[in-house]
Amino acid sequence: MKIGLLGCGTVGSALVSLLDQEGERLAYLLGEPLELGRILVRDPEKERSWPIPASLLTTQLSDVIDDAEIGLVVELLGPGEFALAAIRAALRAEKSVVTANKEILSTHFPELELAAEAANRDIFFEAAVAGGIPLIRALRVSLFGERLSRIVGIVNGTTNYILTKMQEEHLSLEVALGEAQQLGYAEADPSGDLSGRDAASKLAIIASIAFGSHVDVEDVKVDGIWGVTPSDVDFAARSGGVIKLLAQAERDADIPDAPIRVEVFPAIVMSTHPLASVRGSFNAVFVEGSAVGQLMFSGPGAGGLPTASAVLADVIDAVKNLRNSTRAPMRVTEGTHFVDDSTVEAVFALSMEVVDAPGVLAQVSEVFGQHGVSIARMEQDELGAELAHLVFLTHRTRLSAMKATIAGLAGLDVIARLHQILRVLE
Ligand code: NAP
Ligand code: HSE
Repeated sequence: MKIGLLGCGTVGSALVSLLDQEGERLAYLLGEPLELGRILVRDPEKERSWPIPASLLTTQLSDVIDDAEIGLVVELLGPGEFALAAIRAALRAEKSVVTANKEILSTHFPELELAAEAANRDIFFEAAVAGGIPLIRALRVSLFGERLSRIVGIVNGTTNYILTKMQEEHLSLEVALGEAQQLGYAEADPSGDLSGRDAASKLAIIASIAFGSHVDVEDVKVDGIWGVTPSDVDFAARSGGVIKLLAQAERDADIPDAPIRVEVFPAIVMSTHPLASVRGSFNAVFVEGSAVGQLMFSGPGAGGLPTASAVLADVIDAVKNLRNSTRAPMRVTEGTHFVDDSTVEAVFALSMEVVDAPGVLAQVSEVFGQHGVSIARMEQDELGAELAHLVFLTHRTRLSAMKATIAGLAGLDVIARLHQILRVLE
């Protein structure tokens, strides 16, 4: 079986290294070798992290799509219309597709699954979510019979790396991001990591497969970590927790077609919670099912080799299916209903810089009271320059009430800066 590879960057080069190093063992186990046919790149002269025979490289997509010996196309190009067009072309040419492309899957899954069905080929995407963790396969196969009610986890390695470095080494967000970029965790444009959009794309894919109902990335309510400051990280530590960017999908498992809630948000995770101990670029995902109870999956969520490992697993599944002239369908219905996020209830932390003058605390706390938000705890630090840093921890309250409070606070001229709202996961 020949494989066409589209893209030979961080993940693509790691996949080639795995195929080279594990080739003999895999050929023995599979009963046939996995051979690379052509590799599409932008710049054939570029130095790669693994030696690639020049004869395999091409800059023409048609060299892969029109090659009748290539039965399987692995798409590792990254975001953009070109990658989508390439996947569509591969399926039209009746080739199975393996992709790590969360941007495309989180927006075009129903269309691509229909195209794969029409071609009687697979489209697999284990590597699109949580790097090396075999989560999609677990949801798609092992937990197929479960009624799932909640999936919550850390699915972006870059932000988890940044938050870990801010907490443990007191690095600034910018310096920690630079390290994550050097290590190959971050997207080419890291704003997708920091804004929560990358996590939202992965959550849309997870929720679609877990609930069998199509969730688009645009359906996910997203708040990233742009506004998380060292003082927020210190406050979380003093409160006995750490800040994590969480992705959460929930549905009432007892009601057929119950509405779904899908959100990405920064949270203070108390150290007693298993997600608090997930450090660096690691990802971890909790899954709650009706019969199985709680499961936790964890492992490396980004990086060349872990991601290539997930791609390789898909390649092996797709090759087996091609050999048996079969495919693995993934049924996902359209018309999903979503829960209105104003009904979300949680404990929140909100910090701000205010003018350090008599009566200011009273003005600020009055706004919380006006919107029915009860304060559980407050801390104050001197900042110098006649400013003070205030942190409020609320009792359990509605997100809509917190948003109204923030809007009210933004109108006070004694507030110099409002920080990002954080939820508390107990
Ligand atoms: P990357 O390092 O930027 O590599 C992209 C590759 O695609 C490069 O080889 C590039 O060619 C090629 N390419 C891009 N546009 C092209 C075009 N128009 N024509 C021909 N070749 C083109 O990306 P990556 O980090 O390997 O990521 C690949 C995919 O895996 C992405 O969808 C990403 O989201 C996903 N993913 C990555 C990770 C990770 O940790 N990196 C983890 C999970 C999922 P040149 O080399 O010649 O420039
Ligand atoms: N930028 C992504 C992350 C890569 O940090 O998780 C893996 O999808």
